[in-house]
Formats: sequence, structure tokens, C-alpha cells
Amino acid sequence: MLVPLIAIDGPTASGKGTVAQRVARALGWAYLDSGALYRLCALAALRGGVALDDEAGLAALASALPVRFDDDRIELDGQDATEVIRDEAVGNAASRIAALPALRAALLGLQRGFRRPPGLVADGRDMGTVVFPDATLKVFLVATAESRAERRYKQLIEKGFSANLADLLRDLRQRDERDSNRAVAPLRPAEGAVVIDSTHLDIDQTVAQVLRAYRHCVRR
Ligand code: DC
Repeated sequence: MLVPLIAIDGPTASGKGTVAQRVARALGWAYLDSGALYRLCALAALRGGVALDDEAGLAALASALPVRFDDDRIELDGQDATEVIRDEAVGNAASRIAALPALRAALLGLQRGFRRPPGLVADGRDMGTVVFPDATLKVFLVATAESRAERRYKQLIEKGFSANLADLLRDLRQRDERDSNRAVAPLRPAEGAVVIDSTHLDIDQTVAQVLRAYRHCVRR
């Protein structure tokens, strides 16, 4: 029998990471942050001197990525990389290399290997469209660019970083543009995806909607 899987896709800062983690915890399932894999590849490339347009070099690197996920810590080559992969520079490099088909293909097996009983919640951009097209439930989580920029602004300020709302909004729109218009695995709702707009929902309400949608589709 196929291991149950909830795919949660959506644009940057839509809250899908937090929602996916909470849904996984509620169900007692594992959680895959696929964006972290792109970020880890970007970090490995930056550290290893692999050019961000060297598609074959990056694919080789991705197919033997020395990563380890341990609860909520992430290791690259035996070194903790949990925080460093969240750097803006690493995020931008990740967004660039994510446009390369050979790199995306090299990450497929690694991602699919996370699907183990009792279930998996996977978040990213192409979980429902490419990586797990047979997901039990596909969710596409959206929110207006303004509300996403505001959430990111609050997160940064809370962590003690300085931030500028207008700059954040501009960067976020650029990243949306790049993620949505690339030729391979562009960001779009999978066929049959449940679209949830979280602009006016808090995390608890969004998690509750995902769980309701899951219960609904297993009852069918
Ligand atoms: O979700 P994130 O910001 O951590 O993702 C980092 C980058 O990786 C982002 O620019 C889009 C890309 N990405 C992707 O192309 N496909 C995924 N499944 C996940 C992330």
C-alpha cells in the first residue's frame, strides 16, 4: 500500500514550512522541507567553488549530497547547517540553481526516499506536481505578497534583525516571478490541489483547514 503523503506547495513566505511541520506533528508523520535541499546544494556549491551555472557539476554534487536531518537540525558534511542555509545569499543562490533541470532531477530520489510509513508531509514548490504526483492530498497555500512580506518582516524583527518592508516586498515579488516563470517545475497548483488562502488565517486555522481537507479525502 502506498504510504500516505500530504504535499504542500506555495510561494515564498506563505507559511507552508510552519504549517507542514505542524500538520506532520499532528498526524505523527515525518516532514520534508524540500527547499532546505536546494539551499544545502547552494551552500555546498558556494563552499566547494562550484559555479552556480555549472549544471553538470551541481547535479553531481546534488546526487551525492552529504546531508543528515536530525529532528529539526540539518547537517551538511557532518557540520550543522541549520541556520546558515537561511541566509539571504544562500536563498538567492538556491533560487538560481533551482532553475536547472539536471539539478532538480538529481534531487528526485533523495526527496522520494523520505516517504516512509506512517506518512510524510512534504513542502516546497513542486511536491504535488513533480516529486509526489500520487500524493494523497495536495495543498497549494497562497497569501497576498503584502501579507507575506509583513509576516517575514515581523519574523526578522522578532529575531533581532533589521528589516525594510519595501525591500522585502520587492525581493519576494522577484522570487515569486523567478519561481513561477522558470521552464522546469514552475510554481503552480497541482491538478486537484486544494487552494488555501491564508491571508486572513492564522497558523492554527490554516493547519486545521489542511487536516480537514485530509480527513475529507481519506473518507472518500
Ligand atoms: O522554500 P525555500 O525558500 O527554502 O526554497 C529555496 C529555493 O529553492 C526557492 O527559491 C525555490 C527553490 N525550491 C524549488 O525550486 N523547489 C522546491 N521543491 C523547493 C524549493
